[in-house]
Amino acid sequence: MPLSGAGKGEGLLLCRRTPYTPAVEHRFPKFAPEMEWLQRQRLHWSELARRLREQLPQQPHAAVILGSGLGGQALPAPLWQCRYEELEGFPRSTVAGHSGELRLCRLSGIPVLLFLGRFHLYEGYRLEQVVAPVILGWLLGARAFVLTNAAGAVNPELAPGELVLVRDVLDFTLRSLPVDGEFRRHYSCCFLPRTWRRAVRECIGTQGIACVEGTYAAMLGPMYETPAEIRFLRFAGADVVGMSTVHELACAVALGCPVLVLSLVTNAASGNRAAPLTHAEVLSVARQSARQLWRCVEIAVAQMPAE
Ligand code: HPA
Repeated sequence: MPLSGAGKGEGLLLCRRTPYTPAVEHRFPKFAPEMEWLQRQRLHWSELARRLREQLPQQPHAAVILGSGLGGQALPAPLWQCRYEELEGFPRSTVAGHSGELRLCRLSGIPVLLFLGRFHLYEGYRLEQVVAPVILGWLLGARAFVLTNAAGAVNPELAPGELVLVRDVLDFTLRSLPVDGEFRRHYSCCFLPRTWRRAVRECIGTQGIACVEGTYAAMLGPMYETPAEIRFLRFAGADVVGMSTVHELACAVALGCPVLVLSLVTNAASGNRAAPLTHAEVLSVARQSARQLWRCVEIAVAQMPAE
């Protein structure tokens, strides 16, 4: 089946089966008070957030979390920045290509927090630490999130350097946030809002950047997938695979925020290739494509839904 590119109308499907897409776009009722776990996380980071608010020259409206190698020279000059080490209690980036910096920048005229580097379960971090950037971003004022990641192509029609706007996820980390109540009922019909995605796709299409929609599968890692896992993921409907993002997504949705997820394909998935995959290869492609990805992040922020 041919892939459909940005701006080519409604035929967006990468996977063979028809994915479930709700007919109506729901918004999760804002921050359900019964979510004790989320309240504890807010409380945990509130003192750090208070201190940061005093330093920030402007209140951010959105936050972007950048994955492996996706930053560097493409980024605009910051209005403010600090290293994760300077943030008391905040986790440290341990993976190459995650520089571990928090910045405030203006993107399309909008103040936006940039987290250069994320935290993964495979680094030994707990779920609370993995979602710390989302909670901190929210406490500092961000009400929409753009999550980017480097990913392997499960769908053989995707090539390194291509961008995928994520329309759905498969979470094979088998670890979920201990949230409860309304959230459990609403999650799957209110995440990844279609209207924001559509606006971004249309805009990306006018800039001549190749971008399709697809399903992101999250694995625990840190090993890359076996050939059998890739066959399984393809059968399950995945287009790209990575080791991040799904918990940040769930957390932002639980906080009542719209989320856009952008995957940059850095490699053919390990089961779809002869040579072994290395992190260096992932970083090299991510760095080459950073400028394009960054253009898409700017578009995403410009098209962000109003609160
Ligand atoms: N698998 C998992 N994570 C990844 C990959 C991959 O192929 N590429 C970049 N991150």
